[in-house]
Amino acid sequence: MKLNHLVESQQLSVEIILSLFKRADEFRDSADKPLTGKILAALFYEPSTRTRLSFESAMMKLGGNVISTENAKEFSSAVKGESLIDTTRIISAYADIIVIRHFETGAAKQAAAVSPVPIINGGDGSGQHPTQALLDLYTIRKETGRLDNLTIAMVGDLKNGRTVRSLCYLLGKFKNIKIIFVSPENLSIKDDIKDYLMRHDVQYEEQTDLNKCLPLADIVYMTRIQKEQMTAGEYNKAAGIYKIAEENFKLLKSSARLLHPLPHVEEINLPLKTEQTDERVAYFRQAENGLYARMALLAYLLE
Ligand code: CP
Repeated sequence: MKLNHLVESQQLSVEIILSLFKRADEFRDSADKPLTGKILAALFYEPSTRTRLSFESAMMKLGGNVISTENAKEFSSAVKGESLIDTTRIISAYADIIVIRHFETGAAKQAAAVSPVPIINGGDGSGQHPTQALLDLYTIRKETGRLDNLTIAMVGDLKNGRTVRSLCYLLGKFKNIKIIFVSPENLSIKDDIKDYLMRHDVQYEEQTDLNKCLPLADIVYMTRIQKEQMTAGEYNKAAGIYKIAEENFKLLKSSARLLHPLPHVEEINLPLKTEQTDERVAYFRQAENGLYARMALLAYLLE
């Protein structure tokens, strides 16, 4: 069944995922403009570099136009007390599709419930970030050639990290996946994700020693400690515990790939030369893949 909105990763079937990847590959070398005349509204209540700009670039490359509020919390009528529901109803009269990033979990779902045009969740609080998961999975396939038979170490703030949550939901759709969760004690993965993985026969374990896990992983998925989602006390307890630097980066298999949704701060500290020359560093290619994955999604929802 065709999707009207994308608010959570679980909506994406394997069939849709594979067709989006095929389309994303095609868009790399195509000058087609299938969305000429269409308008994307980017409604962002939280900061963003990659998600907002890659969606905007994707829409323009497809021939469409963009209207954008980069700081809706401060510069939209939310300041005057307008609800997200009313804002969505208004913007849906101005645009053919809306990408929303919001600080509240469930915001995109609320918007989708009242919107006559497609809503894409560009990240909602500590809920989900399904297009990040889509581009992460697209990157995993491009880099390793497969989506089954993978061991993935997920490292960092697994409690608040919406990208990890969305990626787990997608990985649950593939075979022989093993996930190793490595997090500070106070930021471990939540039970709803563990329950989902159990129900979908995904093996997982929780570990504390990152260096023991690095040689086992096909993919190391690092994440930032989400300072903005916690108290100073919680942050101080968790910051700096897990890092990839020169001394432990060499523990990765030669075929492994280091991914990160970005932005990264102290949890990755590799020399520029390593980032530029070691093919195991995949996070800049990952961010670029986001452009093509989002082009494919916009075309899917609007054509
Ligand atoms: N990965 C990601 O969502 O990046 P931005 O916050 O820059 O959009």
